[in-house]
Amino acid sequence: MSDPQLVLAARVQAAISAAFGVEFAGTDPVIRPSQFADLQANVALPLSKKLRRPPRDVAQDLVAALDVEGICAKVEVSGPGFVNLTLSDEWIAGQASPLVGDERAGVPLTDRPQTIPVDYSAPNVAKEMHVGHLRTTVVGDAFARTAEFRGHRVIRQNHIGDWGTPFGMLIEHLLEVGEAEAQRELETDPNVFYQAARAKFDASEKGEGHGDFATRARARVVALQAGDAETLAIWRRLVEMSKAYFNKIYHELDITLTDDDLAGESTYNDLLADVCDELEAKGLAVVDDGALCVFLDGFTGREGKPLPLIIRKSDGGYGYGTTDLAALRHRAQKLHADRVVYVIGIPQSLHLKMVFETARKAGWLEHTEPFHAGIGNVLGTDGKILRTRSGKPLKLADLLAEGVERAAQVIAERGYDAATQAEIAHAVGTGAIKYADLSVARDSEYVFDFDRMLSLTGNTGPYLQYAAARIRSIFRLAGADPAAATGPITITHPAERALVLHLLGFGAAIDALIEEVAPHKLAAYLYGVADALTGFYENCPVVKGPDGPVPDEVRGPRLAICALALNTLVTGLGLLGIKVPERM
Ligand code: ARG
Repeated sequence: MSDPQLVLAARVQAAISAAFGVEFAGTDPVIRPSQFADLQANVALPLSKKLRRPPRDVAQDLVAALDVEGICAKVEVSGPGFVNLTLSDEWIAGQASPLVGDERAGVPLTDRPQTIPVDYSAPNVAKEMHVGHLRTTVVGDAFARTAEFRGHRVIRQNHIGDWGTPFGMLIEHLLEVGEAEAQRELETDPNVFYQAARAKFDASEKGEGHGDFATRARARVVALQAGDAETLAIWRRLVEMSKAYFNKIYHELDITLTDDDLAGESTYNDLLADVCDELEAKGLAVVDDGALCVFLDGFTGREGKPLPLIIRKSDGGYGYGTTDLAALRHRAQKLHADRVVYVIGIPQSLHLKMVFETARKAGWLEHTEPFHAGIGNVLGTDGKILRTRSGKPLKLADLLAEGVERAAQVIAERGYDAATQAEIAHAVGTGAIKYADLSVARDSEYVFDFDRMLSLTGNTGPYLQYAAARIRSIFRLAGADPAAATGPITITHPAERALVLHLLGFGAAIDALIEEVAPHKLAAYLYGVADALTGFYENCPVVKGPDGPVPDEVRGPRLAICALALNTLVTGLGLLGIKVPERM
């Protein structure tokens, strides 16, 4: 990669070994962007403690041993021992030139590919997908796309809630309303179906109508678990109908999940007894009050009592935790995961910690690192968890439709034909919603605010889409094709330099996203591209300047910069799952 930070890190590391001995070979050179130079190496201070020498002397020796010939134009020691590194314009241009026309915008495939199952989205059968599912879906999808782009083997795992006691009442309700009505509701408004089943169950339970519905529902659960063929067939129909509903939303949101990625809770049914046996045999699980439980050091509940992870209830049934343990064992042992990423709400973090710790103690994770990418809440403009006015969780489908409609209003007066207008509105509306979500650290809460996210200025999806569309319009004006642009890039102005230097950091932004499951880092990087473009346009006319047409020898290199910026924006937004319309 031509990322300056990595290039200089390697050079500084070599200088450390040369100056202070090979025993310091692995030292982190602590290279950071700086306001005083392009980058700063802050390693002299930590080194000085080990060497017992003044940091400035250490910095000076480091600089004396540093070979940055052809890379840096200036190297100087400042303050208590910082090493300021200023790249040469020629080096920056030389690194960027071959990237023009590179379809990967300079980001190589990794030479250490990992197998990474990613558990994300995971809505529940016969229930609404709500905004809580929006974040895990878009964050997980951005991670999956990006890790794949870098060359990792990503295995999408949609751990849908397709099993459990509610299916007894859902099946009985389906039999009463009939298949056609059930299908209509489950594919458009699943909560109506679920609530009706629940209401019948509760009423029957209290003897307030619906006869023996509750008893029948319970018998259904038993039949389902026993594998009764008729019951299983109805259950399968319920799952099919919900899948159709999920797929509609995935399609609408341009999410890469397909039916092949479904690995719902029921997938692990046949493994649950074995998981319990194994944990019991290993002495990790013990029977407590009739239930099979795992007790882990450091996990206590109310009043300091040990908190159990219940893996088999006293009635013999298994729970959410058992399924997650079976899934993790499967991912580690059968999928050969190097890393398993769980994109799931923060409220489930204790649950996951206990699952991970149990798996570790069981010896399943010797080659596998589980990672909980915790997701924060989406708030309404009132600062409370986003709900409809009647207090129900907001339906994702309604939210998306509103976003697209509002986007259509934003571009209404541009004079596009109806089909183009609809296409742009869709890209801008869904792009705005996804970007608003992805541009915030995934574990922070954020306020869902249509007005802000659809704004054409500021750190928004439409602003970035517009930045890309604007480059395309420059190419139209120049009568040139961005895909056909070639280098070399030359640097004649600080605004060009700032933009090109920033473009060299694309790979580093991608790696930061992958390492921490942090789409906001890539979003911030892309916003930086758009920002640097603004400075570039103000100072560096591409086609026509204040004094007339820009001469060819200037226009060519500037078009090359534009082409690289466009490719970086389109590729980067694409990794976030956001489309860039041709025009806006
Ligand atoms: N279905 C669950 C929910 O909607 C999320 C499942 C997350 N994945 C997992 N492996 N536990 O809250």
